[in-house]
Amino acid sequence: AELSEELAGGGKVEGSGLRTITREAALELRGYKHACHVMLHAPDPDSKLFGRIPLRHAVLMMMRFDGRLGFPGGFVDPEDVSLEDGLTRELTEEVGWGENLCPITEEDHLSCQVREHPQKMVTHFYAKQLTLEELSGIEVSATHAKEHGLEVMGMVRVPLFTMRDGSGGLPAFLSNHFIGNSRSQLLYGLRVLKLVREDKLWEATRASQGVR
Ligand code: GTP
Ligand code: MN
Ligand code: MN
Ligand code: MN
Ligand code: MN
Ligand code: MN
Repeated sequence: AELSEELAGGGKVEGSGLRTITREAALELRGYKHACHVMLHAPDPDSKLFGRIPLRHAVLMMMRFDGRLGFPGGFVDPEDVSLEDGLTRELTEEVGWGENLCPITEEDHLSCQVREHPQKMVTHFYAKQLTLEELSGIEVSATHAKEHGLEVMGMVRVPLFTMRDGSGGLPAFLSNHFIGNSRSQLLYGLRVLKLVREDKLWEATRASQGVR
């Protein structure tokens, strides 16, 4: 049951204390901190790993200071004029998001969840499609960003394929440690944006439980 919830609802719902709500409802809440994170992705139709495995898409996550994987982004601060303004500021600090790239907008908002414990907090999840050149540029600019080596230890591309052994690739990636509900956000994003076929996603999620 937990597996299906994770893939279907945009996050683990039951038992985890997370509720899925709309962006509008989230903005009505008083006394909650808001955090915004984004899945940056780009089509990659030509690359083949080992000349054999088509990659199809490039998807970015990052290794955080605490040794967990997560998406770039962070807390929206009082001086940010909007959620998206806060997210764009965090991207400037964490990945060196430049003036050459479109700012993140409301249209990029994908899902939103609220929790009461240990603190009242809303996590907003965005997805932004870039060109492969723009995404590669982010990987470079991230190494010169303000938070490089501090909050951010490095950007990583998510392997979207599963190797013949049934665990290499996405299953092994999913068995890492993830901050908050970012693992659920990743699975949700991959599913709704159709970056990985749904049956493959199911298989990889199931296989990730046996990876050691
Ligand atoms: P500070 O400036 O040090 O506060 O960091 P930040 O503003 O960059 O905040 P951070 O990215 O750590 O995100 C704030 C909180 O959101 C974290 O304490 C986590 O609980 C949670 N969080 C961090 N990354 C993610 C993510 O990718 N997805 C989700 N759902 N939650 C995250
Ligand atoms: Mn952050
Ligand atoms: Mn930050
Ligand atoms: Mn923090
Ligand atoms: Mn911050
Ligand atoms: Mn900070």
